[in-house]
Amino acid sequence: MQNARLTLDPHFAVGPINRNIFGGFVEHLGRHVYDGIHEPGHATADDEGFRQDVIDLVREMGVSTIRYPGGNFVSGFRWEDSVGPREERPTRLDLAWHSTETNQVGLHEFASWLRKVDSDLMLAVNLGTRGTLEALELLEYSNLPKGTALADQRMANGRPDPFAVRIWCLGNEMDGPWQLGHRSAEDYGKLASRTAKAMRQLDPSIELVACGSSSAHMPTFGEWERVVLSHTYDDVDYISCHAYYEEKGGDLGSFLASAVDMDHFIESVVATADHVKAVRGSTKTINISFDEWNVWYISRFENVDKIEGLDNWPVAPRLLEDCYSVADAVVFGNLMISLLKHADRVTSASLAQLVNVIAPIMTEPGGPAWRQTTFFPFSITSKLARGSVLELKLDAGTYETGEYGVVPLVDAVATHDATGAAAVFLVNRSQTEETTVTIDVAALPGITGVTAESLYDTDVYARNTLEEPDRVTMRPNTSAKLDGGAVTITLPPVSWTAVALA
Ligand code: AHR
Repeated sequence: MQNARLTLDPHFAVGPINRNIFGGFVEHLGRHVYDGIHEPGHATADDEGFRQDVIDLVREMGVSTIRYPGGNFVSGFRWEDSVGPREERPTRLDLAWHSTETNQVGLHEFASWLRKVDSDLMLAVNLGTRGTLEALELLEYSNLPKGTALADQRMANGRPDPFAVRIWCLGNEMDGPWQLGHRSAEDYGKLASRTAKAMRQLDPSIELVACGSSSAHMPTFGEWERVVLSHTYDDVDYISCHAYYEEKGGDLGSFLASAVDMDHFIESVVATADHVKAVRGSTKTINISFDEWNVWYISRFENVDKIEGLDNWPVAPRLLEDCYSVADAVVFGNLMISLLKHADRVTSASLAQLVNVIAPIMTEPGGPAWRQTTFFPFSITSKLARGSVLELKLDAGTYETGEYGVVPLVDAVATHDATGAAAVFLVNRSQTEETTVTIDVAALPGITGVTAESLYDTDVYARNTLEEPDRVTMRPNTSAKLDGGAVTITLPPVSWTAVALA
């Protein structure tokens, strides 16, 4: 048995939680859109062909903003193909995923779905094969109320009011050699700056995201951010981060410590952005849009899923359909803890992705939709984490990892809102031992009750599947006790826990 201790004090806050950090990401990829959110003919399909069972699950997750339509897909995307009468929309090759895009779900249909799931649209523009003009045209089509060719075209296409898109991504992963139109940091920085200036001339109210690195392990990481921000500092609001984690070579200990890497990634990008701020003598602060994060078994995609062949461009193939375990969900919950711990600088984030494609929600054509293990940390954190993140002093044991050296056995974050309610999210990374955590809440006035639930299993590789969709669920953690000014709770090995203090 291990012990850990932490203290909550509302006088010491990291910063307010921006709801945009509970964002998602829908890419035209695999069975995400077609045979995922959209399946006309499904028993639950509504009059637009959207699956109601999926809508209900996305609402249950509490997803604030959804990034669309890619991803790698966006770097070859012509937005005009996706609007207007459906029968006139062209069928195109999607070079990023070696698939066929029918354009039967486009901007209007997706915006309509967003209303159903109660989320806001975050759009990415194509800076891979296209440029400033096309970005401007999409912005005009989306945000201008009326009176120009493109605004009027939107109205004629059935949408009288603008889409009013607030956050825009200036391309996707432009540092990645796999990206259509991949560029050097110099070239991308100049293009992003020109495009941002032009877009703001049209709509000064928008927020803009410059592409950061597609992982902290890219050879250009750090220098990419410095160069891109030195061109775009005055023009953008955010620099993006993308990170995916997977268990490699059976090294569960390192995998469970993935959030240590995410912490380091965020802090490095903050340091780089602040370096550019200092060099420029600027008073403006650039924040982070962590607009792709998840557990993703990339090696499986590269070795098993990859589609090839000049005569082989399937529609909605089964791609990136990772089936998540308990251990994956514990790491996933820990990644959310990392995002929250940096709430002062991570003010937007998008879980990549939402349905079928590295997703918390799975569907079968003509069949059910179900929650993956990762569904639970997202929905519960989105529901309970309110107000501000508190600074924590955490004392816990440590263990040695192959990837990240010596790391804490426990990670945690706490939130506190104006009603006096608080929440604590914790992981126990030990594979063998329970950890009893004492949470000092003496500085929180009026806490009268504690409830807790944990995600764990004797089989850390247990998963939810079509055959057994409810194999893994949250379990009440009845060890949680409030006694005087302290809460004690015991965390099972390899577990994620949410504690609600009322
Ligand atoms: O989310 C899957 C892919 O990962 C995205 O298309 C791309 O941006 C990233 O490499």
